[in-house]
Amino acid sequence: MRVYLDNAATTPLAPEVLEAMMPYFREHFGNPSAQHSYGRESRAAVEQARKVIAGCLNAKTSEIIFTSGGTESNNLALVCSVRDLGVERIISSPIEHHCVLHTIDWLADHHQIKVEYINLKEDGSLDLEHLESLLQESNVKTLVSVMHGNNEIGVLCDLKKVGELCEGNNALFHSDTVQTMAHFPFDVEQLKVHFLTGSAHKFHGPKGIGFLYAKKGLSIKPIIHGGGQERNKRAGTENLYGIVGMAKAMQLAYEHLEDDKAHILELKRYLFQHLSNGFQDIRVNGPEDFDNSLYTVLNISFPPDPRGSLLLFNLDMEGLCVSGGSACTSGASNGSHVINAISQEQDRVSIRFSFSKYNTKAELDFAIEKIFKVFNVKVEC
Ligand SMILES: Cc1ncc(COP(=O)(O)O)c(C=O)c1O
Repeated sequence: MRVYLDNAATTPLAPEVLEAMMPYFREHFGNPSAQHSYGRESRAAVEQARKVIAGCLNAKTSEIIFTSGGTESNNLALVCSVRDLGVERIISSPIEHHCVLHTIDWLADHHQIKVEYINLKEDGSLDLEHLESLLQESNVKTLVSVMHGNNEIGVLCDLKKVGELCEGNNALFHSDTVQTMAHFPFDVEQLKVHFLTGSAHKFHGPKGIGFLYAKKGLSIKPIIHGGGQERNKRAGTENLYGIVGMAKAMQLAYEHLEDDKAHILELKRYLFQHLSNGFQDIRVNGPEDFDNSLYTVLNISFPPDPRGSLLLFNLDMEGLCVSGGSACTSGASNGSHVINAISQEQDRVSIRFSFSKYNTKAELDFAIEKIFKVFNVKVEC
C-alpha cells in the first residue's frame, strides 16, 4: 500500500477532468487561432472555459489570462506592476512562495524599487498593524503581494482586510491564491484585489496550466512575447486540453466545496488527534485553530531526532508520501524559509501532511501506524 499525503505539492487528476480533456487530445486538436472549423471549435472551448472560471470568481471573462501555472501568473502580476503600472515599492511577507520572493529579488536588482516585508506573528500570520503603518509611511506607488494560504504551514491571510488597507492607501493588491483557489470561495466584486493566481494542478486539474485574474482597466503588457493570444497579454498557442481540464476541475471543486472541506477538515483533526496521543511533544507549525487555517495542510513539529530529514526517506520506504516543506525545497526538513521564519528551534523535525478529497480515514490509519513505527513510538491499546 502507498498513501499520498502531499496534496499541497500537487493533486491527482480527477477522472471527470481527464474525461473532459480527452476529446481535445483526439478529435478537437485545432489551433484556437485558426480560422477553419477545427480552429473555431478549439476557440469555442477556450472561451467556454474562460467563462466557467470567470463565473466561479464573479469576474469578467476579459479579466482571466491563461498561463502555464502559478509561477508564471505570479511573475506576470509582479513584473507588470513594476514595468507597466508604475509601482516603485513592493510590500510582501517573508513566507511567500519562492516564485514570488525570487521575482521580487529580481525586480529589486533590475528596477529602482524598494521592498519591505511585513512582520509575522508567532503562528505565521501577518501583523496587519505593521502593514498599515508601512502603507501609511510613504506615498510612492505600492504593490502589496501576500499569499492567501501558505503552502507549508497553512496559515491564512485575511484578504478582505488587506484589500481594504490597500484601497485606503491607494496601493495595488496581488494575492498568490494557488493553495486556496477552488478550495475557498472568491468574489472579486467584493474583494478589493487587483490580481489573483490560480494553478490547476492544486485542485485536481492538469499540470502546466493556470491563470491570472487581472482586474479590468489595468493596462498590462506581456512578459512572453510573440502572437496576440490572450488579448495581447500572453503569447503562445493556448494549452487547449489544459484549459478545458482546468475549467472542469474548478467547476467540480466549487460544486462540492463545502462537503469536500468538511471531509478534509475531519481528516486533518483525526491525524492530529492520533499523533498527539502517541507523541509527548508535538506542535503545530502554523495556526492551531483548524477552523481558521488552510484545511488541506497540517504541518507538525516533531521532537528533535538525529535522523533529521532521513525520517522522510524512511516514511517513503514504508509507503507514506509526505513532505518536509514545500516540494520546491526538495523535501529538506529544516531548510524551509517558512519554518525558519516562525521557529527558532532548528533541531526539531517538521513534516507537512497535506490532504485531498480522495484521502480516507483508512489511509490515515496506515499513515499513523507508519509514523509510529519510524519514530519508535509505542502506543498502548
Ligand atoms: C503558494 C504557491 N504559489 C505558487 C506555486 C507555484 O505554482 P505552479 O506549480 O503552478 O507553478 C506553488 C506551488 O507549489 C504554491 O504552493
